[in-house]
Amino acid sequence: MKTAGIGTDIEHAVWLLQREEVVAIPTETVYGLAGNALSNRAVSEIYAVKNRPAFDPLIIHVYPAERISNWVKAVPEQALALAGALMPGPLTLLLPKNDRVPDLTTSGSALVAIRSPRHPLTQELLAMLDFPLAAPSANPFGYISPTTAAHVARQLGDKIPYILDGGPCEVGIESTIVGWDDDKTPVLYRKGGIPVEEIERITGPLRVMPHSTSNPSAPGMLKSHYAPRVPLILGSIRESLDQHPGKRIGVLSFQSHFPEIPAERQIALSPAGDLKEAARRLFSALRHLDALGIDLILAERFPESGLGTAINDRLRRAASKN
Ligand code: TXA
Ligand code: MG
Repeated sequence: MKTAGIGTDIEHAVWLLQREEVVAIPTETVYGLAGNALSNRAVSEIYAVKNRPAFDPLIIHVYPAERISNWVKAVPEQALALAGALMPGPLTLLLPKNDRVPDLTTSGSALVAIRSPRHPLTQELLAMLDFPLAAPSANPFGYISPTTAAHVARQLGDKIPYILDGGPCEVGIESTIVGWDDDKTPVLYRKGGIPVEEIERITGPLRVMPHSTSNPSAPGMLKSHYAPRVPLILGSIRESLDQHPGKRIGVLSFQSHFPEIPAERQIALSPAGDLKEAARRLFSALRHLDALGIDLILAERFPESGLGTAINDRLRRAASKN
């Protein structure tokens, strides 16, 4: 059994990654569980540590963003425009991979998901490596993504040698994934850290890929995901409170406080109504409520605009477990 070291020692992270070991890394979205994307050994270790099914492909991380072209057959004009405007940042492009990307990394898919993260520590790390990093979120498969080094340590600390600590994640929600279908229509595969409106300003209207539990080849998109262990109900908190008398309830709201619920069992993600702040705090808050030993988490829907759309997506998936 390993015990993960935690720190900011980039040289140590480089040393481990060069030896085909896995290391948790900070990004602006969530922490990733990283390994050499070109090494079958490192990639297999990622799947094993996460307990992730082999059909669910990994995102590749590069820095600087120009390095994307090293791993794909071609970069379509719209992808180039998105990369120019939004990278480095919480955007992942889904593009036809070239032969240098191992099939194991993409679970056999001809497409590779690729992004250039904005976190300075990880940028420095990537710039020191002569291979890209495959990195899914550093959580056990199906659980809430980690947004601090402590989150990673709590769940994967005995399975990995090192966690590069970059502080709390600035965006707090995973990257937005965009690809193109056969007739070059832009497709939204996952709502995320860049609001849909910002993407559409550059690409025009996106086709939205529906979630699926039966078609895992649709990226990201197993419905029951991001789920706390405690059942979560999404809807009007006020109505749900009336429907569940006698239960120990935790509350996750945007701005509101509920006087009948003890203060330590409720979290308003942004009393000031700032969706960015709410996104940044979302996963930490879910983990906190999940650890309280309560019966039920009641969460409300967020405004369907900006990052609110991605927050609602994560809450819906958290709720769909029950
Ligand atoms: O913000 C993020 O994207 C974070 C940080 C660590 O970069 N990463 C992340 O990775 O969220 P992960 O593996 O937890 O989620 C990536 C999703 C997966 O659900 C996977 O199904 C989808 O992207 N995906 C990756 N490669 C794909 C491919 N070639 N084709 C279809 N879907 C793909
Ligand atoms: Mg994930």
